[in-house]
Amino acid sequence: MQGKDLFFSTDIEKHVSEADIIFVSVNTPTKTRGLGAGKAADLTYWESAARMIADVSKSNKIVVEKSTVPVKTAEAIERILTHNSKGIKYQILSNPEFLAEGTAIQDLFKPDRVLIGGRETPDGLKAIQALKDVYAHWVPEDRIITTNLWSAELSKLAANAFLAQRISSVNAMSALCEATGADVSQVSHAVGKDSRIGPKFLNASVGFGGSCFQKDILNLVYICECNGLAEVANYWKQVIKVNDYQKNRFVNRVVSSMFNTVAGKKIGIMGFAFKKDTGDTRETPAMDVCKGLLGDKARLSIYDPQVTADQIQRDLTMNKFDWDHPIHLQPMSPTGVKQVSIAWDAYEASKDAHALCILTEWDEFKTLDYRRIFDNMQKPAFVFDGRNVVNVEMLRDIGFIVYSIGKPLDPWLKNMPAVA
Ligand code: UGA
Repeated sequence: MQGKDLFFSTDIEKHVSEADIIFVSVNTPTKTRGLGAGKAADLTYWESAARMIADVSKSNKIVVEKSTVPVKTAEAIERILTHNSKGIKYQILSNPEFLAEGTAIQDLFKPDRVLIGGRETPDGLKAIQALKDVYAHWVPEDRIITTNLWSAELSKLAANAFLAQRISSVNAMSALCEATGADVSQVSHAVGKDSRIGPKFLNASVGFGGSCFQKDILNLVYICECNGLAEVANYWKQVIKVNDYQKNRFVNRVVSSMFNTVAGKKIGIMGFAFKKDTGDTRETPAMDVCKGLLGDKARLSIYDPQVTADQIQRDLTMNKFDWDHPIHLQPMSPTGVKQVSIAWDAYEASKDAHALCILTEWDEFKTLDYRRIFDNMQKPAFVFDGRNVVNVEMLRDIGFIVYSIGKPLDPWLKNMPAVA
């Protein structure tokens, strides 16, 4: 409870020096320059945290890696700490975070598992036990897994890679469903009923986003390449390629359906966050879709219940991977993108628009007054649902031409140029 056993402070050095256990959760952006650019993790922030810990510590410490860091970071951190040790003993533990945005508190209180990696030496095992005791206050013992350091670090990357792979698998299926007349929701329902596969994380979408999946897979790819495992690197790279393909495919579908040109046409963008119930836009698929449509000279009116206008403008002008640095290190974008306006609600975004693109699965998009929206749009009025949230039949009855990812195609779309 705040003020009793929870305190906030900006006096980092004082608290680090007093603590027995230090959790480090700094950002680990993708490197944009130099060796490993575009793939490897930039450990600048981690390194400066480790140097600061070494500078201010006066007693033995357990340093816990909470940030997702590529395998063997702990070893590098250990070196920094022990080289400045002044006789102080450090134990490094890896304790990766598995919570997801939107369900963070739930995930924290009832985690599927807590993973603690450490050295397999007597001191290492003691440190593992100390951290285990902290979690044991609310997590059942059988959910606390202990491993060696590298297994813990790699398991985090592996878990995210497996999750992202499920989405790319179902998204790859969605393209095939559209081509054949199958329905991807029915396919994933049937597939997920196999208890070995399971029903979660099989929703086809315009693509996965968020601060973790792409970054962690790129790290994994880099580690494979560094270890001479080109085939393995290519295997994981494909998960990202399918994700990029899915976003491109969506843009191509929009453009080809609208007589192969969206130049000067207003398109309402519904949702910009990378998933519902968050205002987070890091690596959101909406960014690539919007950039794609702007590339074809569309005019966009963007509505998201939680993302600010400022954030959207910044995202549309930001370079790849800049988002993961502190805001004062991000490039300024004094002039927003001209062809983009930000709307207060879905009705304003859709007014006089030729098409709507649903890019985040916000619940409110399920219950909009689509009749009213239709009446205020240009005709033919299109809805491109990148999250399978709308009732396709109902919208078609109103008069919309509807595209929904992985669903049997609207007769209108069938006659349009094929989408690669
Ligand atoms: C993800 C993992 O789920 C967490 O376990 C992990 O701790 C976290 O990354 C991290 O490394 O910090 P998060 O990025 O918050 O969590 O969000 P997810 O719920 O995993 O969603 C990621 C993306 O996949 C979203 O864009 C979402 O819309 C998309 N998605 C998810 C689909 O397209 N289909 C699905 O079936 C599920």
